[in-house]
Amino acid sequence: MYLDEIFGLSGKTAIVTGGGQGIGQVIAVGLAKAGAEVVICCRSGADETVKLIEEAGGKAYFVKTDVTDEASVKAAVDEIIERSGKIDILFNNAGACYHKKAIVLEGEDLGGMNDGEATVDEWRRILEVNLTGEYIMSVAVARTMIAKGIKGSIINMASMSGTIVNIPQCQASYNASKAGVMHMTKSLAIEWADYGIRVNSLSPGYVGTPMSQPPFVSQELLDAWAPLFPLHRMAKPEELIPAVLYLASPASGYTTGSDIIVDGGYCCV
Ligand SMILES: NC(=O)c1ccc[n+]([C@@H]2O[C@H](COP(=O)([O-])OP(=O)(O)OC[C@H]3O[C@@H](n4cnc5c(N)ncnc54)[C@H](O)[C@@H]3O)[C@@H](O)[C@H]2O)c1
Repeated sequence: MYLDEIFGLSGKTAIVTGGGQGIGQVIAVGLAKAGAEVVICCRSGADETVKLIEEAGGKAYFVKTDVTDEASVKAAVDEIIERSGKIDILFNNAGACYHKKAIVLEGEDLGGMNDGEATVDEWRRILEVNLTGEYIMSVAVARTMIAKGIKGSIINMASMSGTIVNIPQCQASYNASKAGVMHMTKSLAIEWADYGIRVNSLSPGYVGTPMSQPPFVSQELLDAWAPLFPLHRMAKPEELIPAVLYLASPASGYTTGSDIIVDGGYCCV
């Protein structure tokens, strides 16, 4: 079928980091339905994702991975090469966020929007997972692509927060990490263009996942966000699948160093 020629992923091996829940889980199922064998790389708890993929007739397995730990990533990539022979697609999805101000004055009322003052260690942790983790994974996977002559696709999870500053919560570390992801993406796209490895990023707006629901965010914050959505709602995780399939498949053969925004118009206003 014509659409399979353009978007199909049969015979491909795809890694999804942080695929045990949320966006990663939904994208993992989408990649499997498009024909890829999917490897869920997260610290724990991928049974449900593997089960969903197998129920949909796809192939998947879990490899325990901490994306911030080079030794853990190397062991995971070695295991995947051993089991699957090659890696064609990396969806660098694992991420973390907190809502804390850089400075909280004594007696300041945070009104349910922020959870206090961020420490430098907390700042480092967010950069470590969101930016350094994607870098460690990209380098480890690209090394195998180069060694095997695979013209693969790396998709880095950025966010509209790499372009705009979310309000009213404060999340300087998250916003900085996602802006970093976008420019790292462009840098690696150029560095690896000669090998035919494409590197792009995806920038969703708010997506309905544990990261954007109570108890992680307060009801006051959800109420403050609601009038800011041009389409009057958050995205469903499923609405990111087509953009990821585009970036993962031959459809995007001439797209590298790009960022695809799927934010329901949030960045326009
Ligand atoms: N939910 C949103 O509104 C939204 C919007 C834009 C971008 N994003 C991005 O999408 C990605 C997924 O977000 P989500 O909403 O599904 O969040 P989530 O918290 O449901 O999932 C994040 C996953 O990353 C995993 N993870 C965290 N640290 C890890 C590590 N060191 N090693 C391996 N795995 C690790 C977690 O265990 C979890 O499974 C994140 O990068 C996030 O920044 C989310």
